[in-house]
Amino acid sequence: MSVENRMKNYNQNSSYQLLLAKSNMDLILQAISRVLNTPSPTYVLADYGCSEGLNSSTLFKEIIGHIENLTESNFLLFFNDLPFINWADFFKVISSPEAFISKRVFSSAIGKSFHEQILPSNTLHFGFSSLAFHWLSEPVPKYTRLEFNHYNEENAQIGIRHYTRLLELRYQELAVGGQLIFITSSFQGEDATYEFQKELFNKLHEKGLITEEEALNFKYPIYFLTPEQWDKVLETFAGRFKIHEKDIKIIQKIPSISDESQLKGMLEVISNSLICVFKDCYESVFQNRENKEELMEIAKENLKEIVAEKGMKQGFGGGNTICIALEKIS
Ligand SMILES: C[S@@+](CC[C@H](N)C(=O)[O-])C[C@H]1O[C@@H](n2cnc3c(N)ncnc32)[C@H](O)[C@@H]1O
Repeated sequence: MSVENRMKNYNQNSSYQLLLAKSNMDLILQAISRVLNTPSPTYVLADYGCSEGLNSSTLFKEIIGHIENLTESNFLLFFNDLPFINWADFFKVISSPEAFISKRVFSSAIGKSFHEQILPSNTLHFGFSSLAFHWLSEPVPKYTRLEFNHYNEENAQIGIRHYTRLLELRYQELAVGGQLIFITSSFQGEDATYEFQKELFNKLHEKGLITEEEALNFKYPIYFLTPEQWDKVLETFAGRFKIHEKDIKIIQKIPSISDESQLKGMLEVISNSLICVFKDCYESVFQNRENKEELMEIAKENLKEIVAEKGMKQGFGGGNTICIALEKIS
């Protein structure tokens, strides 16, 4: 049965995520260049939420490649993700010839949540994360009804606490002069991913695939802050972090496509990227079901229909990324 492998295969379903990270490459390269201001025989780098490694290794090839010739130091690279991801695939990618960067680059993996301190204090020179820090450490309250407004005041406080805690942990790990750069989305009136999720959830509920009880026990584990809420978080680090960037990039919508094969490809890319996110969100909803892989496959087909319908009306993609670059100054 190939369903399980297909559903778990992040590397084959994350080209859109790579594109979002690459759209911030100029800022990432500026941050890695600043690392050289702090001399060290070995530079310690980390990717928080590296998933199965393909995007991560592609990005680090470019990041380390940018400064490799400017230093004789070694690089110790820590890849981090949760313990239960597909680490076997990760190691295949990382040890492949395509992922080779230089003889001076040494890699290691940490299967532990970034909601804890995962590196010794004051040791990290470059912390990076793309599209991962928005996975909440503290669950939002359960839905009380299906038409639930996720972006309410109570959840905002949870979100602010979550990101503040994450930054506090990264602050502990960083050496003075160390750089932290991460990419997520900001909330500016709409969270397109959440809207897709909500529509999918309602559709599955209407079809009886999600029970009332499961629906009302659901907690959406992702929260994006508004730029103003980010200011509040960053204010608490005044005198400890210098803010180099807080840059928002608007991702333009791709207008609806008339070419049928191009349209099919686009639907596939977007649905696959979204289902990778929802798979983890729905893990708790389907946890007691024996046929949960099958249910996720049905969810994927339903999502494709929703993406097609919405995409035809409103265009594809869109949204924004927020890229924040910080330096530990004391
Ligand atoms: C959307 S993927 C992004 C992967 C990769 N950075 C990229 O840009 O393609 C988010 C990753 O964050 C990981 N993640 C979520 N919560 C985490 C946590 N608490 N600790 C470590 N990794 C986490 C997930 O397992 C997933 O692999």
